[in-house]
Amino acid sequence: MAKPHADRIYLDHAATTPLSESVREAMLPWLSGGFGNPSSLHADGRRAKDAIDSARETLSRALGSLFAEALFTSGGTEAANLAILGTALQNRESSRRRILLGAAEHHCVLNTAPTLSALGFQVDLIPVDRQARVDSQWLKENLDDQVLLVSVMHANNEFGTLNDIRLFADLAHSEGALLHTDAVQTFLAPGLKWKVQDLDADLVTVSAHKINGPKGTGAIYMRAGVKVKPLIAGGGQEREVRGGTENVMGIVGFGAAVAEHLTETTPDANPRDHLRERALSVGALLSVDSDTPMLRGHLHVRFPGIDAETLLIVLDRLGVSASSGAACSSGSIEPSHVMLAAGYSQDEAKQGVRFSLGRKATVAEAEDAADRLAEALTQIGTAKRKSR
Ligand SMILES: Cc1ncc(COP(=O)(O)O)c(C=O)c1O
Repeated sequence: MAKPHADRIYLDHAATTPLSESVREAMLPWLSGGFGNPSSLHADGRRAKDAIDSARETLSRALGSLFAEALFTSGGTEAANLAILGTALQNRESSRRRILLGAAEHHCVLNTAPTLSALGFQVDLIPVDRQARVDSQWLKENLDDQVLLVSVMHANNEFGTLNDIRLFADLAHSEGALLHTDAVQTFLAPGLKWKVQDLDADLVTVSAHKINGPKGTGAIYMRAGVKVKPLIAGGGQEREVRGGTENVMGIVGFGAAVAEHLTETTPDANPRDHLRERALSVGALLSVDSDTPMLRGHLHVRFPGIDAETLLIVLDRLGVSASSGAACSSGSIEPSHVMLAAGYSQDEAKQGVRFSLGRKATVAEAEDAADRLAEALTQIGTAKRKSR
């Protein structure tokens, strides 16, 4: 394993966040003494079941849902699959044959499309604007009583821009369709306070590791009365929607992370803005206008003529962890599907870099990162001149 740089700056919180100390402490007993199976009727089993119930109670309080409306999964990916494929399977015989997905959704949503098609549904992608926000006008014009489900993410994980989910839910409901939102990036995000009632979505999916909880744990909110077919057949756990012995330790950790974030306050000053100003001064082009509502820690930029891959490698060497939406496959970098959907060219879509600051970020950290960014650009510029 690579040795961590002593003074590394981690600016990839949209990818994942560090486990918080209180979460670790809450989880530890479940690695040792608390090994009972929550389905067992004896005291050891009941203890584990109580721990899950307590986490569910905290989660449902944070979501504003009923206790029974919040179900645990193995993460945001499984939760979104359950929301979309579970709805499709449940309604296989329905006369509603269309499912609409935002064109810049996370792959856990977009990659359900082949299975949906195999199930006989027509999948249409809802276009997004230049800032990766889903086009509500398109939806208005293309919704009809054939639509079973609309899936629109609450915030885009690359650009950080927010969609008005209430508007999309109202539109979907006006034609009798269901609305799913992938809220992995916005659940308990700094400065954002929402409950499921505000979104009015029928299915909302979240993940623990974006809020300093453990990886491999997530949840789905299913509005009472909404039915999905389980994707994992098993012993009737999670109200018969998701079989398998529960990940007690992970669920306890998720509950602890939620509890910690529920009491958190967000300062007015945002260190991200310092990084944005400094990035602009060294030639960055912003993907999101500064007055567009977006996630507080996100900054998505590109530097014309510089591939994200090159910049990220140099930044990494200088101790900065950032990322791009451009996936690396068989040794070459693929353009970001979000940037392509937002109308960028193939070349531009290889240039997008995302810095995502944590909730405890400081101005000093942002300034330090900006210094290293400037240094990275200088090094790349020098290397380019030498190679000419
Ligand atoms: C918007 C969004 N949806 C879903 C996921 C997947 O969540 P998980 O990693 O818990 O499967 C992520 C994680 O990167 C995400 O950013």
